[in-house]
Amino acid sequence: MESKYCKNLCSCINFHIKGIFYCNTLWGGEGHEKNNYYDKNFLEKFLNQREILIENMKKGIVPSHCDNCVYLEAANDKPMEINNKFKRIECYHWVQCNCACFYCSNRQKTKLKITNPLFHKVKGIINIYPYIKELKKRNLIDDDARFSIVGGECTLLKEFPDIIKFVIKNNYPIDILSNGILYEKYISKALNANKKSFLSISLDSGTSETFKKIKRVDKFNNVVKNLKKYVKETKENSNQVMVKYIILKGINDNKDEIDKFFDVCTNIGITNFFPSIEFCNSVKPGKNPVISDKICELYEYMKTKAKEINPNNTVSTYDFVELMIKNKSYIIK
Ligand SMILES: C[S@@+](CC[C@H](N)C(=O)[O-])C[C@H]1O[C@@H](n2cnc3c(N)ncnc32)[C@H](O)[C@@H]1O
Ligand code: SF4
Ligand code: SF4
Repeated sequence: MESKYCKNLCSCINFHIKGIFYCNTLWGGEGHEKNNYYDKNFLEKFLNQREILIENMKKGIVPSHCDNCVYLEAANDKPMEINNKFKRIECYHWVQCNCACFYCSNRQKTKLKITNPLFHKVKGIINIYPYIKELKKRNLIDDDARFSIVGGECTLLKEFPDIIKFVIKNNYPIDILSNGILYEKYISKALNANKKSFLSISLDSGTSETFKKIKRVDKFNNVVKNLKKYVKETKENSNQVMVKYIILKGINDNKDEIDKFFDVCTNIGITNFFPSIEFCNSVKPGKNPVISDKICELYEYMKTKAKEINPNNTVSTYDFVELMIKNKSYIIK
């Protein structure tokens, strides 16, 4: 059997709401055996199980949930190596949020309706800071490690300041995803401490009306105000603040809204634009996997427009979304 390779399985640990996983769960990682937060031996088990998975991949034996994953490759000349130092630490252990984007991928994870008050209740979130400290104590974090805070909404997370102080102290870069509704000073601290750190905020609109339709809270102006603050506070490298626009069928999929989005962002001083598409609910089995020409065109329009405004602007994209757009399909394998 052909030997396989997955960079995530070699180097990632994902603190997920359902347990501790080997990789990003978006692409099927949830199928892997997970480790329980309350198991004292979770790390030994994690490392042993991962070793078995890696040895199997080398022999070409791949769990079925990896089959369609974008990260699964033929090994060619880069066989998987067992590296016990984590290069990617993902914090995805809560879904609670202070808004209710109708597209939110977390609805699939919790099976909770986004309008369910539990989705917004902040109590009962496991604190993962002690787990991160434990990794460090056991010398399991690579010097070149990168952290990411996904969630849920990070500004509601109690241990957020502890995690940020930790990454600053150890000079690890971090990707922070936030909806921008609340201002959090530790976000600016993290960005200023490491120029390789990024903040991503999904504005998805150029007007309050559209924002409200998508996020189901009337907080467009708060996000604009907070974006201004983050840009001001990172003025040495305001490129670290990325603003995302997820193109959503029938809601914001028109040039008028996109142009207004660029006006608002340019006014704030944003220089890093992140066009994206809705790719979680759209790939459900049984749904048409084709991406419409209109969405593909608008995606390209955003990339061109960002550079037209200023050739020095940055366009950030997901590799797999680029492939999806190229293939006009959500299924890219
Ligand atoms: C689940 S959110 C959590 C972080 C934060 N609350 C936020 O919205 O940025 C993580 C990222 O996934 C994106 N996202 C959520 N649902 C998505 C979907 N169905 N398709 C594409 N991107 C999605 C969000 O825009 C955000 O950038
Ligand atoms: S191939 Fe995908 S699902 Fe499988 S371990 Fe790698 S990232 Fe996870
Ligand atoms: S802000 Fe983020 S976590 Fe909250 S509902 Fe929207 S996508 Fe989901």
